[in-house]
Amino acid sequence: MKSMDQKVAIVTGATSGIGASIAELLVAEGAHVVLAGRREPEGTEMATLLGERAGFFRTDVSNEEDVAALVGHTFERYGRLDVMVNNAGGPGDMSPATEYNLDTFERTMAVHVSGTLLGIKHAGRKMAAQASGSIINLGSAAGKAGGWAGLDYSVAKAAILQLTRSAAVDLGEHGVRVNSVSPGFVPTGIFAKGAGVPPSTADAAAALLGAKAPSLVQGVQPLATAVTPADVAAAVLWLAGDAGRLITGQDIGIDGGVSAGRPVTALRAERDRLRHALSS
Ligand SMILES: NC(=O)c1ccc[n+]([C@@H]2O[C@H](COP(=O)([O-])OP(=O)(O)OC[C@H]3O[C@@H](n4cnc5c(N)ncnc54)[C@H](O)[C@@H]3O)[C@@H](O)[C@H]2O)c1
Repeated sequence: MKSMDQKVAIVTGATSGIGASIAELLVAEGAHVVLAGRREPEGTEMATLLGERAGFFRTDVSNEEDVAALVGHTFERYGRLDVMVNNAGGPGDMSPATEYNLDTFERTMAVHVSGTLLGIKHAGRKMAAQASGSIINLGSAAGKAGGWAGLDYSVAKAAILQLTRSAAVDLGEHGVRVNSVSPGFVPTGIFAKGAGVPPSTADAAAALLGAKAPSLVQGVQPLATAVTPADVAAAVLWLAGDAGRLITGQDIGIDGGVSAGRPVTALRAERDRLRHALSS
């Protein structure tokens, strides 16, 4: 018996990167998974690859009618909903605060924050009625400190971490858990998308970034091994299943230790440089 046998899950933004990896692992563990996203050809192809327990439903998470229809479709098809993964998100904008475009800021909030809230709202209703369910939101190390992403993205991810806590204390009485996972740097297409590369080209280029990832995390992450989408998926699976049954309102950082601080080797090197300068 697999850990997700008989379970039904929705994963938003499942046509690429971390979302695709989460959907793949949930299917491998026995769940029925509805992959939600805006890109129909990619979504349908992904669902076909994952087999008969996977299907695609076209959804823009910032649109309430779409999210309500997604949850309604899942319930009609399977009669229950056990796991909701609010993963969809875009890259945000690196403009200086003094130049920030309000429309850009509000669009980022709409996708990340409102999109997550809508997932919680519509999945939470069904889960509350069945008195069980696990909702998992995608936070980020960039939501815990400045300087890891654009201003809008960092603010949105910080809001998602608080949304997770607030929704957890709200839905707890109905037996519904709400948690988040916060990756650090994971080489996916999101970075090239942020640089203006078209989505399908950006997703295809993720492997190139993955090849460079080991050198990019050196001196930055305390654990100098690059996080992969599969690492994030493993934490989501753990929170989705019985192992996490008494865990709610929490965040798991999957970031090689970045949110704990910088590698102490950097500090030692600075101390050695200072010692050398003072002694010469
Ligand atoms: N890659 C990282 O380093 C990293 C780090 C921390 C958090 N995250 C978060 O992980 C999640 C997945 O990102 P990823 O790195 O896999 O990037 P990705 O670009 O591969 O995946 C994001 C997916 O969300 C979809 N999406 C965007 N806007 C949408 C909308 N309005 N409705 C439906 N789908 C939408 C995209 O089409 C894409 O398929 C995001 O929430 C991201 O912020 C990523």
